[in-house]
Amino acid sequence: MKQKSQAKNKTATLAAALTLTFGLAASDAQAQNGPGGLALAQQQNCMSCHSVTRTFMGPALRDVAAKYAGKPDAQNYLAHKIAEGSSGVWGMVPMPANTQLSPGQAATLASWILTLK
Ligand code: HEC
Repeated sequence: MKQKSQAKNKTATLAAALTLTFGLAASDAQAQNGPGGLALAQQQNCMSCHSVTRTFMGPALRDVAAKYAGKPDAQNYLAHKIAEGSSGVWGMVPMPANTQLSPGQAATLASWILTLK
């Protein structure tokens, strides 16, 4: 009983440490190279659910660009959706919140997506 809960604690601590390490590594890279666009999307795991041209887990990012093309508040709207998650716009599968992103990263990703049409 006691051992089990210790193991659980260890796992939780390890997970927290990993999150912290990856988070720091990502912001270091951001400070040094300032990756934008596809590099940032790959680094932030977006491309495990999205492709620019194909729909699989999430909508093709080109289709997202087309849907919001010419809408006045598109960049701001998408930056919020990217950070906070989304459901019910494209289908049955929701997008979880991407809480690891800074507001600047969410805005950069939104701007990049809107160039893809
Ligand atoms: C776990 C899979 C998953 C990950 C990771 C993911 N997405 Fe999504 N994304 C989705 C799904 C599913 C939808 C459709 C949600 C809906 O129908 O509202 C979506 C929708 C979107 C939309 C459209 C929102 C709207 O209101 O039309 C944008 C933009 C987007 N994702 C960008 C991103 C970016 C940028 C990242 C990386 C930071 C990312 N996604 C990571 C699955 C994912």
